[in-house]
Amino acid sequence: MSSIIPLRRHAPGPREESRDLRKTGLDPDFWYPLARSKQLKPGKSLATTFAGEPIVVVRPKDGEPFALENRCAHRQVPLSLGVVRGERLQCHYHCWTYDRSGACVNVPYLDEGKELPNGVRSYPVREAYGFLFVYTGDQAAAGFKRFPDVSTFAKSEYKTRTLDRTIGCHYSFMHENLMDMNHQFLHRSLMGSIRATLLDVRSGDGWVEADYTFSRAAGKQPLGERFMINRKSGTALPEGAIDKMTIRTGYPYQTLQFWTAGSTEPALDLWNCYYPTDREQRKNRTYGLMMIRKPGIPGLVHVIWPFIVAFTNGIFGQDTEIVEAEQAAFDAQGEDWNQEIFPAIQALRALLIEKGVPLDLEPRSTSSVIRFS
Ligand code: FES
Ligand SMILES: [Fe+2]
Repeated sequence: MSSIIPLRRHAPGPREESRDLRKTGLDPDFWYPLARSKQLKPGKSLATTFAGEPIVVVRPKDGEPFALENRCAHRQVPLSLGVVRGERLQCHYHCWTYDRSGACVNVPYLDEGKELPNGVRSYPVREAYGFLFVYTGDQAAAGFKRFPDVSTFAKSEYKTRTLDRTIGCHYSFMHENLMDMNHQFLHRSLMGSIRATLLDVRSGDGWVEADYTFSRAAGKQPLGERFMINRKSGTALPEGAIDKMTIRTGYPYQTLQFWTAGSTEPALDLWNCYYPTDREQRKNRTYGLMMIRKPGIPGLVHVIWPFIVAFTNGIFGQDTEIVEAEQAAFDAQGEDWNQEIFPAIQALRALLIEKGVPLDLEPRSTSSVIRFS
């Protein structure tokens, strides 16, 4: 007996997923780096956003930074246009003044004895690794207690490059692009012909990781890559030693480590965070810390650094172009038509869907709208 298979406009993926990955929101219940520390000078404020939520981060001349909704409770203009006075932020328009808790503490023309209006929301802030991390989610959630651990950042054996860009695609494309090492073909003009071999895929609650090794099929190793993975020469390798790369999405962050054959410390240790800037989540801010183990000769890292920067910029440029092309295809198709056949990416997609949240495109509600009676 034959069954009737309905016609589809596109072939189904290996399994039907419960939700469209590209319409999945990033879970806000984590710490996200919403700005770089160096962008925010003492006595100034800085506008940023998380998934369309406008946020102003303030650094008083004395005292810790704080973050508020970036809207005046009076007429909704950005508070980031205002003036920082001590630990307070004065709105640029009529000088309603807010403290670090978001409470409105002064309205210069309020009649004596009248109650001060409602203020705005405040968010916890922590500064680390050259970033201002802001927590916009539910403080009772587990993510609030866990702060990302980037321990290599503090090690003097490594030099760090901070990555900072806005890319026109859903954050999930970023995770997939980095974890799917089968896309070396994309980088053929910069890297020659490289073949990636998947060694293992592992997953658990909230994480997926994949191990690879690489071989060169043709072409010469580019200088930037050679400097970046800075191999010890002259030492005999143990038998069977191979280069190994591990890429891990530990939701919502992603890391990549690369060990040259026989080494115990990674030559490259990368920490990335991608979060949506807009409500539709079709753009992401990518912040990364690329930590490269310094060569043994003191000072040599400064000589090779420009090559590493040029090489990695070239690679990121090619990746940016292709993930933005993926988003454009999704926008035109209106749903995810991908056929994913690679086990590491199948596991990653399932993780991003499971840990994500529904996209909320309803008008935002506020409890702090003031109604004068
Ligand atoms: S709009 Fe901010 S004080 Fe009036
Ligand atoms: Fe790439």
